[in-house]
Amino acid sequence: MIDDHASPAPRDGERVSAWQPEGIKTASASPGAGDFFDVIIAGAGLSGMTTALLLQQQGKKCLVLEASSPGFGTTGGTTAHLNNFFDATYPEVESDFGEESAALLARSGNDAIGMIKTLAEKYAINCDFEPKDAYLFSQDEQENKELDEMREASQRAGVEVSESAENGTSIPFEKAIRFGGQAQFHPIKYLKGLVEAFSTLGGTMLTGKLVTATETTDNEVTVSCGDEKFRGSHFVYATHIPPGINQFSFKCAPYRSYVIGITLKDDNYPASLIYDMKEPYHYLRTHEIDGQKYLIIGGEDHKTGHGDPEESFKALTAFAEAHFQVGKVAFSWSSQYYSSVDGLPYIGQMAGDHGRIFTGTGFNGNGMIFGTLTGMIVSDLILGRENPYAKLFDPSRIKPIASFTEFVKEQADVAYHFVADRIATEKLPDLSDLAPNDGRVVDYEGKKLAIYKDDQGNVTALSPTCTHAGCIVSFNKFEQTWDCPCHGGRFDIDGRVITGPPQKALKQINIDA
Ligand code: FES
Repeated sequence: MIDDHASPAPRDGERVSAWQPEGIKTASASPGAGDFFDVIIAGAGLSGMTTALLLQQQGKKCLVLEASSPGFGTTGGTTAHLNNFFDATYPEVESDFGEESAALLARSGNDAIGMIKTLAEKYAINCDFEPKDAYLFSQDEQENKELDEMREASQRAGVEVSESAENGTSIPFEKAIRFGGQAQFHPIKYLKGLVEAFSTLGGTMLTGKLVTATETTDNEVTVSCGDEKFRGSHFVYATHIPPGINQFSFKCAPYRSYVIGITLKDDNYPASLIYDMKEPYHYLRTHEIDGQKYLIIGGEDHKTGHGDPEESFKALTAFAEAHFQVGKVAFSWSSQYYSSVDGLPYIGQMAGDHGRIFTGTGFNGNGMIFGTLTGMIVSDLILGRENPYAKLFDPSRIKPIASFTEFVKEQADVAYHFVADRIATEKLPDLSDLAPNDGRVVDYEGKKLAIYKDDQGNVTALSPTCTHAGCIVSFNKFEQTWDCPCHGGRFDIDGRVITGPPQKALKQINIDA
């Protein structure tokens, strides 16, 4: 049953994204003690709800277990660009996976955009879905060369792309290409529609249920949320990355991307989706919310737990001011994504567990497309149907040549943090040395602690050792969270898990404050 009183959708950080004020209706349900489900899905973001809806509409009895509330993770923090070109570029995919796979990838993007449109129409979801052109532009000789290669490889893959004399914005450029067949939407409005359709079809959702363990047999999966247990035939981790220590801890690296939503003093809002070629690149688009246009600009990414969020926001604001007549910065937020070692997502059956557990992860910055594909592929696999993209995104694929360099780099980084963060810890002589609304990992009275002070002067002390694999967390002042530099685990100021592979809270430590 749906609760009619939607409140603003909470998210995994302190900052409010442009989508959250929309709110989302939450479902309430009470499965019977002996209920057995065809499919249990952990996570009520876009991946989980697409999977749940596609299965429920095929007559499967589904249960969605959401640790917080729908859209709490990256679905509430995305900028919702819908593309058939990706962070893994077509020249890279051609080189690592072959021309045929590049063409398949292009078709998968088209199909995902088509699926979003189809579901929005079928269930009358008013999610501001709009077909768009996209412009990618270069600003120096090296970028010009890469842009040409991208256009040629994209064309070979069957993508609708051509050279363009304009770049859809007033930002100076040297060369530009225009992609047809792209789109944008409002992710929380869309997710809300999926939740409602799922519920109308008889699906069950429980919020506030963090999956802490699974156990499989030949016939079933038992899913534990603390002491509560749920039973079903199949289980799907639609949790951005499957929890615990598994192959994905080593094959995916966590990044944070930054976003501002600004008003302009003039009406120079781009009508298209816009991308430059910087490293990391900037991405822009316009969205109208309650009659007000916002220019949404993203970029300045860095690995989670690395970099300085305040510097990223400053750089993003400086970028906006350099190219637009900025009125005000109405929104600023950040969001997490996982990059896979070979650039493509892992979608499908997880190894072991009697073949009963499925997932989708490693979406890079293309979460709305690959999340939708997760729903399409995983539902087909569970229903025993062929899916044309299952092999390309198979989590068990081995691509050593494509993977090797990134793999070594990411693992070296994890190992570095595991060791180095233990050595260098500053001493905190007195709690008054800590600023309000700030947190630091310090040596306090001989103990290594993650200490946070709120604006009232209340101090919370936690063990800084991440409960996933033992790295040391660092404070993200902008989102007021403790972020782990190794695999992207994130915790709130009380130590509760809010995202990533950890399943247990950071330990609270008593200190005399
Ligand atoms: Fe893996 Fe913290 S997320 S050690």
